[in-house]
Amino acid sequence: MSPPMSPNANWSYPTSIRFGAGRISELPEAVRAAGIARPLLVTDKALAALPITASALDLLDGAGLKPGLFSEVQSNPTDTNLEAGVAAFREGGHDGVVAFGGGSGLDLGKCVAFMQGQTRPVWDFEDIGDWWTRADPDGIAPIIAVPTTAGTGSEVGRAGVITNSADHVKKVIFHPKLLPETVICDPELTVGMPRFITAGTGMDAFAHCLEAYCAPSYHPMSEGIAIEGMRLVKEYLPRVYAAPDDIEARAHMMSAGAMGAVAFQKGLGAIHALSHPIGAHHDTHHGMTNAVVMPAVLHANRGAIEGRIERLAAFLGISGGFDGFMDFVLALRAGLDVPPGLIAFGIPETSFDAIAEMAPDDPTAGGNPIKLTRELAREMVEAAR
Ligand SMILES: NC(=O)c1ccc[n+]([C@@H]2O[C@H](COP(=O)([O-])OP(=O)(O)OC[C@H]3O[C@@H](n4cnc5c(N)ncnc54)[C@H](O)[C@@H]3O)[C@@H](O)[C@H]2O)c1
Ligand SMILES: [Fe+2]
Repeated sequence: MSPPMSPNANWSYPTSIRFGAGRISELPEAVRAAGIARPLLVTDKALAALPITASALDLLDGAGLKPGLFSEVQSNPTDTNLEAGVAAFREGGHDGVVAFGGGSGLDLGKCVAFMQGQTRPVWDFEDIGDWWTRADPDGIAPIIAVPTTAGTGSEVGRAGVITNSADHVKKVIFHPKLLPETVICDPELTVGMPRFITAGTGMDAFAHCLEAYCAPSYHPMSEGIAIEGMRLVKEYLPRVYAAPDDIEARAHMMSAGAMGAVAFQKGLGAIHALSHPIGAHHDTHHGMTNAVVMPAVLHANRGAIEGRIERLAAFLGISGGFDGFMDFVLALRAGLDVPPGLIAFGIPETSFDAIAEMAPDDPTAGGNPIKLTRELAREMVEAAR
């Protein structure tokens, strides 16, 4: 029997996407087409040591593109990483960025391309009102994105998440031109992810779709993308967790990750509003953190989302309405070895008040179906203990 075909396609929304196994070979062509002659490849330190990164650099080098490498990128990247990246970009005389990695490498790479041509501090471009219009659009270098995890969707997003190292607050930096010009989605690059990261990033994709679907604003396009994204996670995340080199399943998870980020233009909610302060203070994995708090948030929001979740459950082939959906989420998490609560995840009880205090100020809190007060956030944290 021949192996199942892994999907291969070219898409033009929300940006130009070359999707398919092996398509990393098209990186030099994509870089050239963006008018880049001296790319700076930005990734995190662990990835920089892996063969997938060496091969990408070899491909660029072999095409005469003389790439630089910047890898001072933490998971949950900071303003310090960003400043160093901007300095490397300028010193190396680069004219574009290949953002390569999980959400951390992608976000930092995108922000380096953005900030290298700005004069104002990065916090002036936080995702608040029309602050993005303060930026000089001519000062943004072209970005090619190459995701190596499947979940954050940063490769098709217009934002980068940067942690302020002074006060440990995660800030969302937004500009429409942070959307990469071309994305190479090659599922083979995700095969080597540690299992914990496969699970966590997959749950991030699910959280993006779920929160976008439940956010109260009117955006049926996003909702349509969100429910199919959740179907892909339901079908393929357990499969890829069991068989890491299943390329077809890896490809569908890569789609689900990108779909989540497109869908969450509609809004996110308390899962992310709680996850951001937890990640900023305890340096936890973002998607895993979402998975840990997800059931508590669903439970607290029940009154506002029950009807909607019943429709979703029917689409996903889950019986039992809201309760059936909750059981499905709990079983999905358990099958992925997600810790059952915050304490088991390593978050000390002494942090609970601070997390609940910060969550309502997170920019994603506004999308929660019920107003996220400090009291409600504290209840959610308690329920997630
Ligand atoms: N821009 C957005 O819209 C958006 C959305 C969600 C999350 N984020 C951000 O993304 C970050 C999390 O990204 P992530 O979950 O992709 O994890 P990550 O980028 O932090 O990577 C996690 C770990 O996995 C390793 N890794 C990544 N790909 C690998 C591969 N193919 N093989 C082996 N190891 C690999 C990395 O080296 C790292 O150690 C957080 O900072 C989060 O805030 C951004
Ligand atoms: Fe997320």
